[in-house]
Amino acid sequence: LPWLALAAACGLAIGSVPMGVLLARLFGLPDPRAIGSGNIGATNMLRTGHRGAAAATLLLDALKGFLPVWLFLGWGDLAAQAAGLGALLGHCFSPWLRFRGGKGVATLIGIGFGLHWPVGLAVVLTWLAAAGLSRISSVGGLAAAAGLPLWLWGFGRWEAVLAGLCAAALVWLRHAGNIRRLLAGTEPRIGGGRR
Ligand code: G3P
Repeated sequence: LPWLALAAACGLAIGSVPMGVLLARLFGLPDPRAIGSGNIGATNMLRTGHRGAAAATLLLDALKGFLPVWLFLGWGDLAAQAAGLGALLGHCFSPWLRFRGGKGVATLIGIGFGLHWPVGLAVVLTWLAAAGLSRISSVGGLAAAAGLPLWLWGFGRWEAVLAGLCAAALVWLRHAGNIRRLLAGTEPRIGGGRR
């Protein structure tokens, strides 16, 4: 058990680095917490108008999920899952941001790649399909999150399904505001088009 706690703590430390905020500073962009949805993720970084910074946020936030899982796989499946869930928690409730943090979609995708790369790929395709059809980023994120435990199950990774469910639940919780706007029909489309 102490090993699991150590894995989770390492994940937490890696996940808590607020990439969007740091990249915005690096590129001289407005702080993502002050614009659009106020989120620190790639979708809201895109609302600064800087595609490169948004892409870098997506990649680095995903890496925060992938790296801890991959690092701790040698300690066994449970340690890898604990590291991944730690990273997701760190991202969503970053101590550097007074525990406010992001919504976890990119980090969840990275966790998927770390656990079993075909699952990561399937989760990305799920995101692309749902976001592409709806033209709404949060719909993609919600579908991708729900997809993680489903794809883990589909690919026979039973040992990770419960961790996948926990990750999905956290990402859905972090999208409470988005879900409210989706139900009210006021969630903005990607690129700022018609609502
Ligand atoms: O990854 C977060 C995305 O699903 C929604 O982001 O900024 O539209 O709330 P945002």
